[in-house]
Amino acid sequence: MKIRIILAICIFLTLIQTGCMPSAEQGKNGLDPVIESKIDAILAKMTPEEKVGQMAQLINDNKEDPEEIKNEIRKGRAGSFLNITNIEIRNSLQKTAVEESRLGIPLIFGYDVIHGMRTVFPVPLAEAASWDLDLMEKTAAIAAKEARAYGIDWTFAPMIDIARDPRWGRIVEGAGEDTYLGSMITRAKVRGFQGDDLSDPETIAACLKHYAAYGASQAGREYSTTEVPERVLRDVYLPPFKAGVEEGTATLMSGFNDLNGVPASGNKYLLTDILRDEWGFDGFVVSDWDSIKQLIAHGLAKDKSHAGIIGSTAGVDMEMHTHCYIENLPELAMNGAVSEDVLDTAVRRILRVKFRLGLFDNPYADPKLQDTNILTPEHREVARQAAKESLVLLKNKNNLLPLDKNIKSIALIGPLANNERALKGTWSGMGRDEDVVTIMQGIKNTVPNCTINYAKGCDITGGDDEGFAEAVKAAEKSDVVIMAIGESEDLNGESHSRTKIDLPGRQKELLKEINKTGKPVVIVLFTGRPLTIDWSLENIPAILLAWHPGIEGGNGIADVLFGDYNPAGKITVTFPRSVGQIPIYYNMKNTGRPFDEEDRFTSKYIDSPNTPLLPFGYGLSYTTFDYKNLKIENEKVAIPGTVKISARVTNTGPVAGHEVVQLYIRDLVGSVTRPVKELKGFERIYLEPGETKTVTFDLSTCDLKFYDINMEYNVEPGNFKVWVGPNSVEGLEGSFELL
Ligand code: BGC
Repeated sequence: MKIRIILAICIFLTLIQTGCMPSAEQGKNGLDPVIESKIDAILAKMTPEEKVGQMAQLINDNKEDPEEIKNEIRKGRAGSFLNITNIEIRNSLQKTAVEESRLGIPLIFGYDVIHGMRTVFPVPLAEAASWDLDLMEKTAAIAAKEARAYGIDWTFAPMIDIARDPRWGRIVEGAGEDTYLGSMITRAKVRGFQGDDLSDPETIAACLKHYAAYGASQAGREYSTTEVPERVLRDVYLPPFKAGVEEGTATLMSGFNDLNGVPASGNKYLLTDILRDEWGFDGFVVSDWDSIKQLIAHGLAKDKSHAGIIGSTAGVDMEMHTHCYIENLPELAMNGAVSEDVLDTAVRRILRVKFRLGLFDNPYADPKLQDTNILTPEHREVARQAAKESLVLLKNKNNLLPLDKNIKSIALIGPLANNERALKGTWSGMGRDEDVVTIMQGIKNTVPNCTINYAKGCDITGGDDEGFAEAVKAAEKSDVVIMAIGESEDLNGESHSRTKIDLPGRQKELLKEINKTGKPVVIVLFTGRPLTIDWSLENIPAILLAWHPGIEGGNGIADVLFGDYNPAGKITVTFPRSVGQIPIYYNMKNTGRPFDEEDRFTSKYIDSPNTPLLPFGYGLSYTTFDYKNLKIENEKVAIPGTVKISARVTNTGPVAGHEVVQLYIRDLVGSVTRPVKELKGFERIYLEPGETKTVTFDLSTCDLKFYDINMEYNVEPGNFKVWVGPNSVEGLEGSFELL
């Protein structure tokens, strides 16, 4: 026995040392016996109806005196509400649950706190471009603190769907196309929302969504089917979820998508075999909105009762919005069609999270927190920092940027120059238009003596060219033109897929007219997805990608335009040249006939280059960075082991700045083919002019694992290429071998 224990400890320590901790079974939460026995006691008293009540998440539309709803609560037929942001209503419903229902089980209140609650930060795809994990943790922590002040216990975030199709509007909600980066960001977000202790009054429960592979929607069309081979599912789409489970997320949300013939919200393989049996997740799963009922439309269930059976037995513990569970499961459990174990298991998980959140001890939210905990100057300062760090300089011909602060006049043109909503972006929580600093305001704050000649020029979509003439006049009488153009917040996000991803409406024509004036033009580009901006990139000297940068966006943009901040953002999603190239992402396979310019019969188009417009990891700075001395300390490494890779990076330009140093590898020969490049590490460093830093990566052989020919998660011996560089196409190249 003793020997076995010692052996187990040794294996455990080796796993920690090699970074190969396999699953959450040894994971963060661990079951608290005190909580578990309290749950046992409650479960023993519950009727089937009360059990299913815990599994029901209802809406109330913030109604003032919802008697009908309260009656449901009294009967124990509601376990949770979503979208209640009025703290008085929240507390009053809670009082009904705690004081007037038979068992007094508190409700849990959920809301989409996606990129901020009242203080709105950049949209997630923008924030990912900062590659700053500490910042991302901090913005989540602020969002959590503010959400609690509105009585929210639980956010439906982070959205961690890997997305490689910019037609899909929800690409804006995630971290982009890369699995490694996405997993790191997932961890940061879970840490930020949940902190170390869920019962802390400044933390909320996280929810990893949308489990799983929703981002693989065919043709980028919203709610469409997903067909993802098992290996791709496990190598590409699942790791961020596994990472979030390991980080201790309290909940997950099952997706809308049909995955390989079994919709995610009825998919036992995903929800039980992988999530519970392999990863040991002990929190609960909520369905996405209506997605249990949608099992009928999918053609998996014949009616609501059948949908309830499929969803609950597959492993969806709580049903959002529709009533398939509450209307059917109590009776189905009583007549044995659904085992009461299914209900007990789901309720146990839900109660566990309620206990962890401290809801049994402190069910009520404190309205006074709104006086002190929301939209504080400190939160705004972080929002400004996040905005600055999210901005990506895409082009800067002849160093047009930064602009001289003594500039006399600026033409500020475009439908987004004075638009608050586009700064907030989709899912902007309780953010208010009046909180937003627009570009116009940000510029005025920075250069108060400069004359600003504003012209809207045209609408965001549709519209006519009536405003063009006025815009041209504004340009003609100014020293420089700043064009605020792109997508408004309602052109991306849920149910906003597009087949054309160029500048919408008449904006490109407006841009061309303004460019004809010969004035230097800077584009400040708003978007929640990659756009096909090939014409702009070729013809306009400077482009600053602003995304939807949050309420401090105007200030952050002005900080960059006038050189108070040196941009360092790098895109985490590939920008295609045209829609025809989609899907296009940096970590593709090589094919048997890789591109060869001279050879017609290689993998290519006859009417477009293969290369993207802008590659993953790309972004410019006001300074330049030189990469030298790639060193691989141990070129032959036994498995398990660590490869030590370093490079010297020097700031060779005139100003200080941050650089995101990226590490990529290629596994040259495998039992299954591997991508041409894979991100395996990054570091965001700060360098003064002339300063050099050595950046070192300890690449564990565990980080080189993939699902091999036998579908086992393994690292295989052989030769690897390695690159350290500023993006996914440039960099110093070396190699190593695993023995
Ligand atoms: C979305 C989810 C969201 C839920 C609740 C659904 O339509 O897909 O991401 O959390 O609504 O608002």
